[in-house]
Amino acid sequence: MRVMFIGDVVGALGRKTLEEYVPKLKKKFRPQVTICNGENAASGRGITGKIYKKFLQDGVDVVTLGNHTWDNRDIFEFIGDAKKMIRPANFPEGTPGMGMVFVKVNQLELAVINLQARTFMVDIDDPFKKIDELLAIAQARTPLIFVDFHGETTSEKQAMGWYLDGRVSAVVGTHTHVQTNDARILPKGTAYLTDAGMTGPYDGILGMKREPIIEKFITALPQRFEVVESGRTILSGCIVEINEKTGHATLIQPIQISDDRPFDE
Ligand code: FE2
Repeated sequence: MRVMFIGDVVGALGRKTLEEYVPKLKKKFRPQVTICNGENAASGRGITGKIYKKFLQDGVDVVTLGNHTWDNRDIFEFIGDAKKMIRPANFPEGTPGMGMVFVKVNQLELAVINLQARTFMVDIDDPFKKIDELLAIAQARTPLIFVDFHGETTSEKQAMGWYLDGRVSAVVGTHTHVQTNDARILPKGTAYLTDAGMTGPYDGILGMKREPIIEKFITALPQRFEVVESGRTILSGCIVEINEKTGHATLIQPIQISDDRPFDE
């Protein structure tokens, strides 16, 4: 089974970039499942019902989220009905939404799980303990398991990768918006990438307008951060190929499309 993952889609430029390239990438790589992280899709913060539906129309099968899940109030209106959207599974008990979803591909199923790290982030439930609980459920149904681990630090993401080596097909990180150069398959068969990178403005700082951010570093005064709305774009993500019998990954290939790395049909 081939899975395509698109990293954090930021604002309108990110949505436009996804709309433009997902069909082209699907033609090139022929993934059976396409996943995108949509937690920054609405003006850089959160997601709306309209954007969620548009992602599905554009060819996305599962939308994952992260620490900005609740930043747009619209989420509470549609999260209960969004069967193809997951938020971090280790949010506290009773939180709306779900953290794991199964996608059917012919006779097979891919479990997609969203988790959030804790280092330099809000203190939520233990993602390591939570994944053990979820794997007990997922592994009873399928060996094909994809994890989006939304986190700030490389060390916590690496720790999760090694913790899950051989137990899931892939651990791909999101949140830091810059693609890391460490895609690999761990010894027991788990594909690993510390961060998939972002999809959206190429010339901002993590997708946001540069000036207020530079100003904040210089003056230490509070600033209003806004998403970049025009200019050059980048798409970042990866392709993971999984052995359907063992659930082990056989390939992980990062994707980046920008002016510096043009799309190659
Ligand atoms: Fe995030």
